[in-house]
Amino acid sequence: MLSSVYAPKDFKRLYAAGDIVARCFDYISSNIKAGISTGEIDRIVAEFLKANGAKSSDLGYYGYPKHICTSVNDVIVHGIPRDDVILKDGDIVNVDLTAEYKGFHGDASRMFMIGNVSSKARELVQTCQDALNSAIAICAPGVPLSEIGKTIEAVVNPHGFSISREFVGHGIGKVMHDEPQIYHFYDKKWDKIKMVPGLVFTIEPMINTGRPESKIDSDGWTARTVDGGLSAQWEHTIGITEDGAVIFTEVLN
Ligand code: MF3
Ligand code: CO
Ligand code: CO
Repeated sequence: MLSSVYAPKDFKRLYAAGDIVARCFDYISSNIKAGISTGEIDRIVAEFLKANGAKSSDLGYYGYPKHICTSVNDVIVHGIPRDDVILKDGDIVNVDLTAEYKGFHGDASRMFMIGNVSSKARELVQTCQDALNSAIAICAPGVPLSEIGKTIEAVVNPHGFSISREFVGHGIGKVMHDEPQIYHFYDKKWDKIKMVPGLVFTIEPMINTGRPESKIDSDGWTARTVDGGLSAQWEHTIGITEDGAVIFTEVLN
């Protein structure tokens, strides 16, 4: 169940991979504005990864055709970058990047708000980031995995937003997707599974203004809300230490 448990020397590699992911986000952020296509963002990421000796973990994964996922407005996850999807004022977009560097993967996603965004959309984006940060803060050895979902629900429910149940976080390290699955809602099945030092996984809550369910586009990937409501997601790759949790997908000083 807990296959993604790593030694301290591997944590150094996970920091290196996560640093590239975080620096890539910082690099692309000034480009993410009205008028750019999601296809162009994909190309900028591809160049950055190449220049830094890293590669996209997404490209070719079950035939996935691009380097990142770009999920705009009602897209929950796995939006495929396209030259004919052009960001416009008022959009919210999630960019999700998993990169492999020296055999280790770092996985993170961030939201970007384009120009003047509605107050509802802003609240959704902020609540989702708060939910992720609150969940990271409770992670430590001995804490049941179910506490992650419990914590996210406590942040999200008062706002009346729903939490996607179909897509989950995951163990990560030498492979992109590993055990355990990380639920973003409470499920008692995870009460008995406790975090241990060395455990490495993602937390990546997706929350919606309307219903939680998704439907998949004819491209086989793009997952949208069934009711057209907005969706937001934030993601980090973290590791459990003796004292708590460290975030790998931040820029190293
Ligand atoms: N980055 C995604 C995650 O958070 C995985 C991307 S799926 C792919 O797990 F098909 F796009 F690769
Ligand atoms: Co991701
Ligand atoms: Co992930």
